[in-house]
Amino acid sequence: MPIEHSDATDLREPVTVALTGASGAQYGLRLIEALVAAEHRVWVMISKAAHLVIATETDEELPARPARLAEVLAERTGAASGQIRCFGREDWMAPVASGSGAPSSMVICPCSTGTLSAVATGASNNLIERAADVALKERRRLIMVPRETPFSAIHLEHMLALTRMGAVILPAAPGFYHQPQRIEDLVDFIVARILNQLGIEHRMMPRWGES
Ligand SMILES: Cc1cc2nc3c(=O)[nH]c(=O)nc-3n(C[C@H](O)[C@H](O)[C@H](O)COP(=O)(O)O)c2cc1C
Repeated sequence: MPIEHSDATDLREPVTVALTGASGAQYGLRLIEALVAAEHRVWVMISKAAHLVIATETDEELPARPARLAEVLAERTGAASGQIRCFGREDWMAPVASGSGAPSSMVICPCSTGTLSAVATGASNNLIERAADVALKERRRLIMVPRETPFSAIHLEHMLALTRMGAVILPAAPGFYHQPQRIEDLVDFIVARILNQLGIEHRMMPRWGES
C-alpha cells in the first residue's frame, strides 16, 4: 500500500537507519520510506554486505557512493531535498559518530549477527557499529532487527546483553494473525512495530484491539 506524503516543509528530527547484511533488505527500505512519509529526516548507512543482499533480494542495485545513494533513495521515496543523508563506512566525521551529533533514535534493520556481535562487544570498526556504540553510551534509543534462524548461543547471549544495555531487540518475525495476503503485508508488520517503538504515528497496521 502506498504511503501518503505531506507537503510540509518543516522536517522532524532525524532517525538513523542502518541496513546490514542480514536477509530482509525490504524491511529497511520500507522503513526509510515510512520515515520519509512521516516527515522525519533520515540518516542512512548501508553496509557492503547489505548492498549485496539488496541486489540479491530486490530489483534494485543501490550505488555505494553516499551522495549518489542519497539521491537514489530520495527519488525512490519522494523525499524532500536534504531529507535523506547517507554516510560511508568510515565517515568518522559524520554526526552519528559522536554523542553531540547523533539523533535520539537509531534502527539497525535488518541487523546481521555480525553487526549484533560487534555492537554487543563495542567493536566500533565501522560507522554503523560506532553509531550504535554512541547510542548505547548516550542511553539513546537503539532498535535492532536481527534475522537469522536458528539462533546460536552466541547470538542469544549477544541479544540478552544488548537488551540489558537498553537496546530493543525486535526480530524480523512477522505475525500472521492479520491474515497477510502479500509479502508487503509481512514487511509492514515489522516496520509498523519499529514505528511503534519510535513513537511515530502510522496507518500501516492496526494496533491490537483496533479494527
Ligand atoms: C544473500 C545473503 C543473505 C544473508 N543473510 C543473512 C542473514 O539472514 N543473517 C545474517 O546474520 N547474515 C546473513 N548474511 C551474511 C552477512 O551478510 C555477513 O555475515 C556479513 O559479514 C555481515 O556484514 P555486516 O554486518 O557488515 O553487514 C547474508 C549474506 C548474503 C550475501
